[in-house]
Order: sequence, then C-alpha cells, then structure tokens
Amino acid sequence: MSDNKQDHAALTGEHRLDDKVLNVLGTYHQRIDQERATPRQEAPGGRDGGQDQRMRAVGPQTGRFLNILVRSLTAPTILELGTSFGYSGIWLAEAARATGGKLITMEVHGYKSAYAQAMAEKAGLSEHIDFRVGDAVTMIRELRGKVDFVLVDLWKDLYLPCLEAFYPKLNTGAIVVADNMIYPATEDVKIYATAIRAKPGISSVLLPVGSGLEISRYEP
Ligand SMILES: C[S@@+](CC[C@H](N)C(=O)[O-])C[C@H]1O[C@@H](n2cnc3c(N)ncnc32)[C@H](O)[C@@H]1O
Repeated sequence: MSDNKQDHAALTGEHRLDDKVLNVLGTYHQRIDQERATPRQEAPGGRDGGQDQRMRAVGPQTGRFLNILVRSLTAPTILELGTSFGYSGIWLAEAARATGGKLITMEVHGYKSAYAQAMAEKAGLSEHIDFRVGDAVTMIRELRGKVDFVLVDLWKDLYLPCLEAFYPKLNTGAIVVADNMIYPATEDVKIYATAIRAKPGISSVLLPVGSGLEISRYEP
C-alpha cells in the first residue's frame, strides 16, 4: 500500500473531518497516487503553458500538519501561495472553518483555480475561501490587512519575491510554512531559507515532513 493510501485509510478514522471533506480528500488522494506513479512529463508549453494538469500537491502528511498548525490559531487570516488544483486548500479551509478564520488562496492559472473552487464547493468549504487568480507577488502587494498564516508553495524562484512582499504584512505570532525545502533541494529554496532566517523577529526550523517544511514564526 502506498503512503497516500495508508494516510487516507488513517484519515477515514479521523473524527474531526466531516464526510464531505473526507470524500473530497479521497478523490484527491487517488489523483495524487496516479500522479506519483506517472513519470514526470513537461506539459505542452512548459510549466506555465496553461495545460499543466499535474497537481504537485503537498500530500497527506503535510496537509494534516498544516491543518494541525492552523487549528492552533484563533480566527486566522490564512494566505496560500499556489492554489494549484486545491488539495492543500481543503486542509487549510477546514481549519479556517474550525477556528473562525478565512483562507485567501492565489493561483496564476484560472483553470486550476476553477477546479479547486468546484472541489471546495463539494467539500462544503467554499464560503471560507477567497480564490484569487493572477500573479501572487502582485496580489500580495495589493492585499489589504495583515495575515496570520502563510503557505508558500508556488514556483521556487518566486519564494524570495513572495517573502519580500508578505513579510511586512505578517501579524505578530504569524506562522509561515514553505514546502519543498528538502526535496527537490534547489538553490532557490536555500536562498529563501537564508533570507527568512535573517529577517528581524523570525524564528525558523526545517522539518522533515513531506517534502521538507521550513516553519517560521514572526514575533517582533
Ligand atoms: C506546487 S503547486 C501548488 C500545490 C498546492 N499547494 C497543493 O498542495 O495542492 C504550485 C502552483 O503555483 C502556481 N503558480 C506559479 N507561479 C505563480 C504565480 N506567479 N502566482 C500564483 N501562482 C503561481 C502554479 O501554477 C502551480 O499551480
């Protein structure tokens, strides 16, 4: 049995997630299993060509971990950078609903965001999510208000420009999670780790959950 299937089996014994959420997660887990069993192929037109169907989702361990972290906050404003097809957003929005918070999620491709919106509707979570389509760096700069939680999971060369854009918008006590910090280990994520650790008020640690998460907390 793959890790995904084991994790999904464990999730179905989870009392805190309702049936609608579990069913939608089940659909995603099947798709993640298929995707991970298929050799990576560059989509026509490349990763930004508008036909890319790979979800590149964080996976169930990271999803659950995000849910646990957000559930420890009170009515948080959550910012997700890289909606993709909506998998991590289900975990974040479920925690937003549980805590009286809200999720703002950003994706450059409208067709991915549209799929994510339909799945959020099925999960009964759409009223807790504000879907925004466009370039995340530009949209972060335009954000009114501050944020309490950030998931950084878009193209890796955007981690640093996103950090520069969202850092001034962090509330005291805000938590920032960046994915793919161990796998794939790219120069871009190392630059991000060095940059966020150098920011005033940031405490940060690298955790071997999923593809590796840099967890940072802001307290000036
Ligand atoms: C790794 S995937 C996100 C996976 C998602 N967090 C999940 O776990 O389901 C990265 C996403 O970032 C999106 N993206 C790339 N550049 C972007 C940009 N400038 N602004 C917003 N989203 C962008 C890609 O289209 C892709 O869907």
